[in-house]
Parts: sequence; structure tokens; C-alpha cells
Amino acid sequence: VIEDVFYRIVFDSRGKETVECVVITENSYGRAIAPSGASTGSNEAVAVDPYKIEEIEERVSKALVGLYVFDQQEIDKALREEDGTENFSSIGGNFAIAASLAAAKAAANSLGLKLYEYLGGAFAKELPYPLGNVIGGGAHAENSTSIQEFLVIPVGAETFFDAQRANALVHRKLKEIFKKKGIFAAKGDEGAWAAQITDEEAFEILSEAISFVEDEVGFEIRMGVDVAATELWDGEHYVYRDKKLSREEQISYIAELIDKYNLLYVEDPLHEEDFEGFAELTKSVNCMVCGDDLFVTNVKRIEKGIEIGAANTVLIKPNQIGTLTDTFKAVKVAKDNDYDIVVSHRSGETEDETIAHLSVAFNATLIKCGVVGGERIAKLNELIRIEDEDYMTMTKIRWLR
Ligand code: PGA
Ligand code: ZN
Repeated sequence: VIEDVFYRIVFDSRGKETVECVVITENSYGRAIAPSGASTGSNEAVAVDPYKIEEIEERVSKALVGLYVFDQQEIDKALREEDGTENFSSIGGNFAIAASLAAAKAAANSLGLKLYEYLGGAFAKELPYPLGNVIGGGAHAENSTSIQEFLVIPVGAETFFDAQRANALVHRKLKEIFKKKGIFAAKGDEGAWAAQITDEEAFEILSEAISFVEDEVGFEIRMGVDVAATELWDGEHYVYRDKKLSREEQISYIAELIDKYNLLYVEDPLHEEDFEGFAELTKSVNCMVCGDDLFVTNVKRIEKGIEIGAANTVLIKPNQIGTLTDTFKAVKVAKDNDYDIVVSHRSGETEDETIAHLSVAFNATLIKCGVVGGERIAKLNELIRIEDEDYMTMTKIRWLR
């Protein structure tokens, strides 16, 4: 039974205030911190000012104290009812997700189980591949690429450790290449390199780094992108550093990139309301097409996408929807319809490692949590621990040709 719920304000990787929730039962406790986005979708659960902590703590405690900690669905229902809005604008998606995840961790702790074991059971035995952000711009860094994230997927790795090592080597090799070319590169919000280069230059530089690392590790590494196209869309065109594209031009441009660079993964290639454009692209390519701002981990939007074939992959960000139950429902509807899932961090993160466990519990194809920086490494090292301590194999990526 939940005996107490309290919050404290802590800081995230951007140095911004966020909320940590602690859920206490008679024999255990659980703790979780809400992350936060910079290129947030307009249909996400809304974050409320952390300094409203006193008022919200009182409301959430009243709603949760006395509930059975193993009844996650009841806990999440109580959070929804206390909030009373569609998008958690009253108690805040940030306050809600921290409580929801803290409750699950308290339940797992009281059974002496790891969170992934509690949520995934005896058959959660596959690790996702790390989808690593290595060059970035958009809303995550000024004066860099227009495409928000250039990603790597070490598809040939046989262990999670080797996979993360490959991503880290690419990140390191990129620094060397930038230096050699005399290009100044800083780090963006997620630790990816930010430089004054065009997207085409980023693809070329990344290809060079990947070839080098492939030789070193002896397996294949593929590229992907998060276009985060809502950030480029001005209502009429997609506006890049060096070009302006209409909707149709954008669709063919992305298809060309997939072909030219053999991309395995494309996230948000079109703005968040263009379900039809997504469907047009998805039909014409052999590539993971993933909805982030499009779906916002929301069952209704995922169902709408499934109906017209808007994508084949769903990005799963628990704080976009506000509870673990709703996150699970999003995963379920995606999987029931043969969509892949990718569990994801936010650009504003903390040392909280919960999503590492969710990626195993939900059998995600990929986990998107960066490559370097303590708040990213917290998740990656947790997966290395899980691999080391428990019997695990790497999941199968069905998109490889
Ligand atoms: P955000 O970006 O966390 O800043 O929203 C990440 C993403 O777009 O995937
Ligand atoms: Zn995204």
C-alpha cells in the first residue's frame, strides 16, 4: 500500500528545474524524475511549473495514498482523475509521469525485482539496439544542421556492449574528422556534435566516420535521422539552412536521402499533422519510418496513423502521455499492428535510468538515449549491467536487407 508520496525539485541536463517523485510503501520505495523536451510536439501532455510543487504534491498524495502499489492501472487512473484534463495540464504531465514511474519502481523494489523484470516478466530477455545521436542541430543547437539528429545504429553488434562501443567510437571519430577539416564543433543538448555545416556535409562526414569504425569493430553500422520536421515547417514550406522545400519536394527529398545513404531509420520526416504525407513516404521506402511529434505516445493518434499506414514505427516517450499505463497502451497498439517501437529519452534528461528498463520490458527494437554525457550514459550503462547480470540476447531488427 502506498503510504506517502512526495516531490522535490531537482535539475536536468540543461540545468533546468524538474521534478522528482518518491513513492513510499510499508516496505519499500521508488523514485523517478521527469525529463523534458525542447522540440516538443503540440499534442503532448503539458508540463507544469515545478515550483507549483506544494499544491500538486498535496493533490497527488491525496489521490495515491492508500492505493495498492501493485495496481499500476488504478494508480494511473487516480492520477488522470485527479488531473481531470485530456493533456494533464492541471497536475502536469511531468508531475504525473514521475509519480507513475516511481510507483512502479516501488512495486518492483518491494518484490526484490528489477523494474524490467516486474514489468516484462520472465520473457523479457532481449536488449534493444542503441540508436545514437552523433551530429545534431535543429532545436538542440544553434547554427548547426537543419536536420535535428544524425543517428547511428550498430546493427551488426552481437552484444549491447559492442553496440554502444561502436556508437561511442563513431562519436569520437567525428571529433577527429571535424578537427582535421578545421571545422569547429561544439556539443548540443544531447551531446551530439553541432557544427556550421549543411545536412549534406553532415551525411558525408558521418559516412566517413562510420566506414572507419566499421573496419575497427568488424560489423555494419547504419545511419538514421530525426528530421523533427515540425521545427522546419513554416506553414507552407520546410525551411532548411540552404533550401526551402514544398511538401511534395520534402517527401521526395527524404526518399532520396534514404536511398542515397541507405538510411535504416527516419523520424518525423514531415510536420506533426501531415499523416497523409507520412503515409505517402512510408509506402515508397524500405526503412523504419517513425512518428514522434506525430504520435506523441498517444493511442488515438497511433490508431489514426495505423488506419492510413502513416508509419511503421512509434517513438515511445512516457512523459509525452503522462502515465505508465498509457505508455503501455501505446506500445500494445503499436505492436498489435506490427509497428516497431523505439523507447526514447528527451533532450533534457537526468541520471534517471528508468527508460533502459522500459526498453527491455517492452521489447523495443531500439532505444534512443544519446551516446555520451552522464545523463545519456546512465541509461546505456544500466543496459550494460542488465546484459552482464542476466541472460540476454540482442533483439532482431527486421528491417535489415
Ligand atoms: P526533445 O527532442 O526531447 O527536445 O523533444 C527529441 C526528439 O525530437 O526526438
Ligand atoms: Zn524526435
